[in-house]
Amino acid sequence: MLLSSHATFGLISILSWISSAFAALSSPSLAGALSKNCTQGWRHSGSPKGRNVTIAGVPTYLVEPIRHSGTKKVIFFYADAFGTFFINNQLLQDYFASQGYYVLGLDYFFGDPIGLHLDKDLQPIDPNFNLTAWVEKSRRQAAQAVPIWNEAVRKRYGQNAKYNAVGYCFGALYSVGIGATDDVVATAFAHPAELTEAHFTSLRKPILLSCAETDEAFPTADRNQAVDLLTQNNKTYHYQVFSGTAHGFATRGDPNDPNAVWAMKESAKSVVGWFDRFST
Ligand SMILES: *[C@@H]1O[C@H](CO)[C@@H](O)[C@H](O)[C@H]1NC(C)=O
Ligand SMILES: *[C@@H]1O[C@H](CO)[C@@H](O)[C@H](O)[C@H]1NC(C)=O
Ligand SMILES: *[C@@H]1O[C@H](CO)[C@@H](O)[C@H](O)[C@H]1NC(C)=O
Ligand SMILES: *[C@@H]1O[C@H](CO)[C@@H](O)[C@H](O)[C@H]1NC(C)=O
Repeated sequence: MLLSSHATFGLISILSWISSAFAALSSPSLAGALSKNCTQGWRHSGSPKGRNVTIAGVPTYLVEPIRHSGTKKVIFFYADAFGTFFINNQLLQDYFASQGYYVLGLDYFFGDPIGLHLDKDLQPIDPNFNLTAWVEKSRRQAAQAVPIWNEAVRKRYGQNAKYNAVGYCFGALYSVGIGATDDVVATAFAHPAELTEAHFTSLRKPILLSCAETDEAFPTADRNQAVDLLTQNNKTYHYQVFSGTAHGFATRGDPNDPNAVWAMKESAKSVVGWFDRFST
């Protein structure tokens, strides 16, 4: 009896997952496909403080806070196309850890981040490189890995920890995805790609939208529409937009441009401030 009710519950949750996945697919697009802009920007320099671990079979960058007191606070970090092991993303994760969080970023590219296909000036090595095909392959891998990995991270830190999620570009899909569940207390994204209206209307948790002024993947009209939907659906959100910035500003800003550096730092600080608010 117990078994069959479990089976029924499993079936219902699979069906509801499938129907919400279809709803998301058929829902109007609000953030567009990855483009060349998702592969450009500046490489940063520094010494990463985290380490490589394997969680649920997925290579993971893990950086722990130097000290923490009371409740453990955790960040699921969903990287841009350059992946969790890209120096910029490692330094960003290190910053979050310095603010008191256990930060974990999974490599859903499984050793094949976009950087592998770019030269040192971030130009494609092979002029025929097919970005769409690479994105499709990476989405398939991530769709399998992310839910299992999320669950394993939640097991690792336990029920009392406060979980948050942040996604950049390619990774925004996973931070809005987990924001539609009770597995986090808050979520965030910066310069997202491939989102639909349903991703905003399905949210259950507070969301921070950290946006570039010029962003072909998430242009002004779509950003306004996203904010309208959040408002109409009584969601808790904070929307910020940085003048003089473009898609990629939060992870790959020009380190020699004071406006870019300010926006990049302020975006990261806002993510921490947002998570702090819900993680006490
Ligand atoms: C990249 O962004 C710039 C603006 O920053 C825009 O002019 C350009 O068309 C974009 N390129 C692609 C391929 O999306
Ligand atoms: C961690 O893994 C990444 C990706 O495989 C690799 O580039 C990096 O050198 C590794 N770092 C360490 C400390 O093993
Ligand atoms: C690139 O890949 C996509 C998806 O697999 C495919 O539809 C498209 O035709 C490819 N483009 C080229 C120029 O080969
Ligand atoms: C809207 O959300 C707030 C805060 O989450 C809640 O207190 C309020 O009851 C909600 N209002 C409606 C009409 O759902």
